[in-house]
Amino acid sequence: MDAFRYSAKTTTTISYKTRWQAPSNIALIKYWGKEKNQIPKNPSLSFTLQKCVTETSIEFQPKPSSGLTFDFFFEGKPNPNFLPKLNHFFDQIRPYVSWLDGYHLTIRSDNSFPHSSGIASSASAMAALALGVMDAEREMDAGITDTLFTTKASFLARLGSGSAARSVEGPITVWGKTPSVKEASNDFACKIDSLHTVFTTYQDTVLIVEKGSKSVSSSQGHALMNGHPFANQRFEQAQQHLHSLLEVMKEGNLDDFIRIVESEALTLHAMMMTSQPYYLLMEPQTLSIIQKVWAFRKETHLPLCFTLDAGANIHLLYPKEHTAPILDFIKNELSPYCQQGYYIEDAVGRGAKKMYI
Ligand code: PMV
Repeated sequence: MDAFRYSAKTTTTISYKTRWQAPSNIALIKYWGKEKNQIPKNPSLSFTLQKCVTETSIEFQPKPSSGLTFDFFFEGKPNPNFLPKLNHFFDQIRPYVSWLDGYHLTIRSDNSFPHSSGIASSASAMAALALGVMDAEREMDAGITDTLFTTKASFLARLGSGSAARSVEGPITVWGKTPSVKEASNDFACKIDSLHTVFTTYQDTVLIVEKGSKSVSSSQGHALMNGHPFANQRFEQAQQHLHSLLEVMKEGNLDDFIRIVESEALTLHAMMMTSQPYYLLMEPQTLSIIQKVWAFRKETHLPLCFTLDAGANIHLLYPKEHTAPILDFIKNELSPYCQQGYYIEDAVGRGAKKMYI
């Protein structure tokens, strides 16, 4: 994307410190399968979350020798486990922020949700980093408009982790080219306005079935979509699902919303089960919860549905007005299936924000 290559018009160097909070997101239409540099094989749509966030401060110090260097602290301590991902991120974004080569960065990052809770933190982490970098770039170039700031932050975040592109704005974003959304791009996510208001306060209670890392990573999963026997049908289905979901979300038709969202979740896992080699990320508790949710919905007619990311945990989605009976159900009947009874009460959010220091 040449539009994002920073043509250092200015020779300004700055000492600057900034702090950004970026949310996690949960896809309703799943991104699964990619080309090089996180170019998605199909468009995806997600709810931006509110409470599951990463907060990252970056201190930019100009230095005499060229070459970017950085120190990284996670929850106050140096943490070498994150270095390969960070090095990869900076290698990927450098062509678009070449001014970084003259700096030493001190990066301090914290998550609102417990580390290794099984909640994917790469989306919020990469988005918070990208926003901090863009903030420094804007400090040097007052010509950067709000639109350029947001789209380039999403673009840089995508280079770190595909789904991170959707963690800049909220409450609902689409990433990946599709005839259903004129402004949609493979390079960055865009916000979808004019959907039914019920979705602007939707609740997402995340049931933690399994903490810790997955047996097959998302990167390996994406790679297994190359040569997958059902890949093309899946990419086509995602386009159709996205088209229908947008219509349904305009109308506020919750029955059809549930039908598409649950189908997407199960299709994602069906792709894993039909890969070569095949694998399973759901646990017995995941299936028990799904069965219970279906029985609860049949009995109460409340519009509670589930989605899954690439793991065993379950996201339960429902309109805010039904919070009381649904939380009772979760507490009494579903929490026994969660690891140490743990779940997180989240809701859709408005996107990343700058924190003042
Ligand atoms: O951004 P990645 O490479 O971790 O892939 C995310 C894949 C899913 O979470 C399963 C789906 C999605 O669209 O977020």
